[in-house]
Amino acid sequence: MAESVELAAARVVDRFERRWSWVVAGVIAVVLAVMVYSGLHWTAMSPASVETIDASRLHLSGEFVESNLGTEIRPDRTAVVRLIAQQYSFVPSCIVLPAGTPVKIRVTSPDVVHGFLVTGTNVNTMVIPGYVAEVRTRFDAAADHLMPCHEYCSVGHEGMWARVKVLERAEFDRLHGQQPRASCAGQ
Ligand code: CUA
Repeated sequence: MAESVELAAARVVDRFERRWSWVVAGVIAVVLAVMVYSGLHWTAMSPASVETIDASRLHLSGEFVESNLGTEIRPDRTAVVRLIAQQYSFVPSCIVLPAGTPVKIRVTSPDVVHGFLVTGTNVNTMVIPGYVAEVRTRFDAAADHLMPCHEYCSVGHEGMWARVKVLERAEFDRLHGQQPRASCAGQ
């Protein structure tokens, strides 16, 4: 009789193992389906917000001429920051912003692929020549942040970084008044 108890136990174990192997197979099938679907979906429909720009003419005309770089305060008091990421610096190398304000950061590259992040925030993107990278954010508190390049862009990569100075709105207004442009100069 002892043998049939063992046999019954084995049958139960067998049934559970079968059941769980179907669960595992189901999970794998779902993951594979998601991979195939999203791969095909994003191949067929590339992101709509891709914005192109002629990387060879940035300094000659258009949005990224030197006089238009840095922080711009719009009439609605939001900020737009424009930067060029190039081997091996950001232009300008320091930007100043008011806290608690919607900020749009627009960056492009004239040479190779760069990237940037702003320490202590989730601002993080790649910068590809021929495209404009745009990040929207808001800095809640006054602080100094570093903004390093995080895509290896050749021998000077480690030295490629900028500073982001966030000031309280009142302090920012005191320093920059109602001017539409703000820079780190003299701070
Ligand atoms: Cu630019 Cu690394």
